[in-house]
Amino acid sequence: MSFEITRLTEESSAAVAEIEKLCFSKPWSEATVASEIKSGFSDFFGAFSEGELAGYIGGRTIAGETEIFNVAVSPKFRRKGIAKALIEKFIEAARKKDTQVIFLEVRTSNLPAITLYEKCGFVFCGIRKDYYTDPKENALLMRLAFDGTQEYEEWDDEDE
Ligand SMILES: CC(C)(COP(=O)(O)OP(=O)(O)OC[C@H]1O[C@@H](n2cnc3c(N)ncnc32)[C@H](O)[C@@H]1OP(=O)(O)O)[C@@H](O)C(=O)NCCC(=O)NCCS
Repeated sequence: MSFEITRLTEESSAAVAEIEKLCFSKPWSEATVASEIKSGFSDFFGAFSEGELAGYIGGRTIAGETEIFNVAVSPKFRRKGIAKALIEKFIEAARKKDTQVIFLEVRTSNLPAITLYEKCGFVFCGIRKDYYTDPKENALLMRLAFDGTQEYEEWDDEDE
């Protein structure tokens, strides 16, 4: 199976929202996706397989800091390297914007995503208590720094 990664425009908002519904308990709506793509601060990329949106990544950069909102791949397209390729494309775009660091949050139980992010160079840098709802769960905060400060950090239980 081959796929092609391209920058997404507002026109792909409905397809992104469909993937959101398949992947998350609180999916972003088509309108939210469209408004974020239009914001001018965001980078959204999609992986297309024979014209079908198989997965996407979205995030935004403000004042030298980048946040990844979501990475999601339709179940039938998983374990084919699509998410990894999307993250690599996103990192390349963030670097061109003079980003110093990319942050993301992930559910502590989401081992597939945590494994994926580690494979892409992200390291743990903290915990956000009860960050998620439906179901309630802590978030692991992970980061990828380009300023030479990338290192493993232990989070301190007393800060939780
Ligand atoms: C997490 C997710 C994006 C991975 O997408 P994917 O395209 O299947 O991932 P890739 O094929 O690029 O995987 C790259 C690596 O990540 C790790 N990985 C991915 N899925 C995994 C799984 N289910 N279990 C363990 N490791 C996994 C593996 O190391 C994998 O490399 P390998 O296949 O050579 O072993 C996908 O499962 C998904 O959409 N999940 C639901 C949405 C979600 O949780 N997004 C993250 C929100 S923070």
